[in-house]
Amino acid sequence: MSTDLMNEPLSGCSGVLVNDIDLARLDDVAIARIRDAFARHSVLLFRAQSLCPSSQIEFTRLFGSCEPHPLASHRGPPEHPELLVVEHRPGVRSRRNDVWHSDVSFSPQPPLVTVLHAIEVPAHRGDTLICNLVTACERLSPAFRHALEGLEAVHDAGPEVRQVHAQARGHEDLMAPEPTRHPVIWKLPDCEQETLYVNPYYVSHFVGMTAEESRPLLDTLFDIALRPEHIYRHRWQRGDVLLWDNRRTMHYAIRDYDDDTLRVMHRTTANP
Ligand code: SIN
Repeated sequence: MSTDLMNEPLSGCSGVLVNDIDLARLDDVAIARIRDAFARHSVLLFRAQSLCPSSQIEFTRLFGSCEPHPLASHRGPPEHPELLVVEHRPGVRSRRNDVWHSDVSFSPQPPLVTVLHAIEVPAHRGDTLICNLVTACERLSPAFRHALEGLEAVHDAGPEVRQVHAQARGHEDLMAPEPTRHPVIWKLPDCEQETLYVNPYYVSHFVGMTAEESRPLLDTLFDIALRPEHIYRHRWQRGDVLLWDNRRTMHYAIRDYDDDTLRVMHRTTANP
């Protein structure tokens, strides 16, 4: 029996619930099942997990090296710099993630996997949306897809770094990393899939065009990617571990809670 039959689909567009696995105690069978599920699906959900930071980092390393965020202002605590604490509590407002993005797409080698562990979540609020960029790519008409071949987009962390500075002076990111370029239709090296690798947060323009010239085509691509049928909406439960392929998806954290709300997530990423 394929181990995929043991998983439950989360939606029509992406994601499976992987049952009966304790991520803090993985054996070879469980690891093989996770790898198989990840090869088939861009989003995996594990319920009722309890991972301390070290266990989460160890689990993330199944997919590659687990590094601190390249922007110093996003680093984790000194004992676990690899672990980004996405924290919103009374008196501590989290950085806003209610923008569609793929994590660290401004890096020449964006992370393969993002792992998000729900430590504290508000009831019925703070959902995360995940959009399937492989399905979006498959659904392009052949002629439009062909026209996009060879086109590269520039991914730039500059606006994010300037925003962090504007909100909290004194952070270490004095300069944004150099913008980088990625193919718009990206044939992923480790699988046969192609992804529509653009996101509204980091992509500033296409290589060889101005931002103004790029705008209409970018807006068209975002409209296609963000069709409702390409989006899975995750309703969090405490203890959830949601893992997604950061190149086959982009995500958006809904900010529908008020300033007194407690929401704490632990985020790690892996690069092969
Ligand atoms: C993120 O965008 O990295 C975090 C998403 C979330 O907090 O739901």
